[in-house]
Amino acid sequence: MYKTFYIKDVLQCREGSEVELIGWVRSKRRHGKLIFIDLRDSTGVMQVAVKQGIADESSFVKALEVGLESAIKVRGVVKRDPRAPEGVELHCNRLEILSESLDDFPIRKGVGLKFLLDNRHLHLRSPKVTTIMKIRANLMDIARRWLKENGFIEVNCPTFITAAVEGGATLFKVDYFGRVAYLTQSVQFYQEAAIYSLEKVYSLQPSFRAELSRTRRHLTEFWHLEVEMAYAELNDIMKVIEELIYAIVNGLSRESEKELRDLGRVVKPEIAEPPYPKIRYSEALDILQQKGVNISWGDDFGADEERILSKEFEKPFFVTHYPRETKAFYHMPDPGNPSVCLNADLLAPGGYGEIVGGGQRIHDYNLLVERIKENGLNVEDYKWYVDLRRYGSVPHSGFGLGIERMLWWLLQLPHIRSACLFPRTPTRVYP
Ligand code: 4AD
Ligand code: MG
Repeated sequence: MYKTFYIKDVLQCREGSEVELIGWVRSKRRHGKLIFIDLRDSTGVMQVAVKQGIADESSFVKALEVGLESAIKVRGVVKRDPRAPEGVELHCNRLEILSESLDDFPIRKGVGLKFLLDNRHLHLRSPKVTTIMKIRANLMDIARRWLKENGFIEVNCPTFITAAVEGGATLFKVDYFGRVAYLTQSVQFYQEAAIYSLEKVYSLQPSFRAELSRTRRHLTEFWHLEVEMAYAELNDIMKVIEELIYAIVNGLSRESEKELRDLGRVVKPEIAEPPYPKIRYSEALDILQQKGVNISWGDDFGADEERILSKEFEKPFFVTHYPRETKAFYHMPDPGNPSVCLNADLLAPGGYGEIVGGGQRIHDYNLLVERIKENGLNVEDYKWYVDLRRYGSVPHSGFGLGIERMLWWLLQLPHIRSACLFPRTPTRVYP
């Protein structure tokens, strides 16, 4: 059994063409001797009219009895009809049930959010989730294409690690044959090793954070697009971030135009056209204090602060030069003012907040050792990472972009979990 036609192809067929479609019964309505089936496949939904007398009798009976989400095969004639959802209808003359639903399909209008999440394996069939997943796939594809065109080489890094990248508080511990290992928060350190041969690298793989924060923007497992580049300083990497974000938004506005429209979103490339505003942490602090936020120098920005701050902007914007104590040890201190570091977070406007974190790394051996100690960490735990600074170390910079954060912003999703096939949050590892 193979598919000759997909719904999207049939929508293009000439009136009168005879076609066969395979899909699932999304909904059904009966008007006397006429049954309408909304047939769903990966490419769309098509109205199938099963009329007694036109369809053979056994097909009509099957149409009458078939349960929602059963898999069926229909053969019929293409008819233009402005009343049909896509302007095209299939007049069925034969219907075959390939696999009957054993029970009533449980996903119905009015079921609660918890039910939908507990039944995510079935909720995935909804047009909305399907559309989001198509946009997600396209986003990754566009990003990969842009990176390749710009000379970045894809590398794949390990997930099991032995020491924190982004601080010990959010590490997932695993038993590694009696030894302690962790799930990585970022593959940055491995990419830093790779730049000495490949110079410009990227990875697209999951990162893990044992973050108990129950916000709309935190997952415990997320897909991380990370980039690392030799001979790049803070300004160079900000330029890469801007261009990549623009390429993604511009690409999606064209290539996913239909899907975006189906979600009721209009994404114009202008919303992400470089250059982006750049403010320092100290300026961001001023804005927050003027807004009445109780925050002082040295405090990190959380979801609330970023929401307030990002409402002041209409385009993505960079916040740079954070106090060094708010950032991980590997960030390069600003030589002109070592109390801050040469980092850059990119925040999405309109209340969304951080979607990219990155900056320049310490490439000096002694400075790195000093910063590891200053953070109360054990230099021995970072032996191989420090070792990279012994042999031809060069200035380098990089960043990480959260795929789900980017979708959360672009699609204006109520919660980041809607950007995942099967979201992982502190309270959810099933299904
Ligand atoms: O700012 P973060 O922690 O930076 C790093 O991990 C760097 N080592 C990356 C690098 O420079 N190579 O994380 C980077 C991005 C964030 O801006 C955010 O988009 C996403 O990863 N992110 C999360 N997304 C969903 N849920 C979480 N709990 C996330 N934590 C970070
Ligand atoms: Mg960050």
